Amino acid sequence: MKSNCYNDLEGRVAIVTGATSGMGREIAIRLAEQGSSIIINGRNQKRGLDAVEEIKDKNGSAIFIRGDVSIPKTNKTLVEAAIETYGRLDFLVMSAGELGIGSITEIDIQTWEKTIATNLNSVFYLLHYGLPELKKSKRGSVVVIGSIAAFKVFPNHPAYCASKGALTQLVRQVALDFGPQVRINQVCPGQVDTPLLRNSVRAFDNPEEIIKQTEEKLPMKRLGLPKDIAEMVLFLLSDKSSWITGSSFVVDGGSLCIP
Ligand SMILES: NC(=O)c1ccc[n+]([C@@H]2O[C@H](COP(=O)([O-])OP(=O)(O)OC[C@H]3O[C@@H](n4cnc5c(N)ncnc54)[C@H](OP(=O)(O)O)[C@@H]3O)[C@@H](O)[C@H]2O)c1
Repeated sequence: MKSNCYNDLEGRVAIVTGATSGMGREIAIRLAEQGSSIIINGRNQKRGLDAVEEIKDKNGSAIFIRGDVSIPKTNKTLVEAAIETYGRLDFLVMSAGELGIGSITEIDIQTWEKTIATNLNSVFYLLHYGLPELKKSKRGSVVVIGSIAAFKVFPNHPAYCASKGALTQLVRQVALDFGPQVRINQVCPGQVDTPLLRNSVRAFDNPEEIIKQTEEKLPMKRLGLPKDIAEMVLFLLSDKSSWITGSSFVVDGGSLCIP
């Protein structure tokens, strides 16, 4: 494939969750452009197959495995599919996530449990099944998509903020226990223009106005784009970041600087 600026990503194999939409999709496509083979995951079959088609149209290699990452078995299946199809596993990118909005007293127990299971437990499950294979690769690299919600709170997002905060420590723990064969880092986006962000502002009477106000407040005066996040993820997967592990990288157009 063309535009190869990370030679060491060629011939490697990655599982990307949340790859049916937004940042995960962009990461999967960019990684495939560098010559990695991709296991695309999400629950939406049509969007998953679309992503595979786009990769194949660019002469890349990908398969779609449909499934809910909040269920342990899905994550086991993803690892098995990588080994059965491509014979190895080098990278995990966990981008699946949901907001689960509602204050502690308003949120129903199922929403709390589902949000924690999707944002946090799923990362544990995929690491649990995937790390033995990444150790064999010896240059295994993991990127977890966290959020600036790991560092600041937003009104009525307790499940989201708690799950994203916990990921920061999980990443450090894995870095300590699984180096030097496996590196793991977290990318913490700010407001990025994806369906998740657009759905979150739908609750307001004036969603377009809310987006405009958000952009005006940001030091960089625009929402992030999935490619802004994908750039950082590719760097962290590649050997160019070979001394970086256990860290969290904020990519937010300056959002955390807003007083
Ligand atoms: N957009 C932002 O402003 C922002 C900011 C900070 C952090 N983030 C984080 O970035 C990550 C990607 O979000 P995005 O903005 O790209 O959102 P998005 O476009 O809505 O994509 C979310 C992805 O997660 C998948 N997903 C959700 N629940 C799942 C489940 N239970 N099982 C399997 N897949 C599941 C969805 O797939 P299906 O629909 O096919 O199931 C979809 O591919 C999330 O972890 C999010 O928390 C986003």
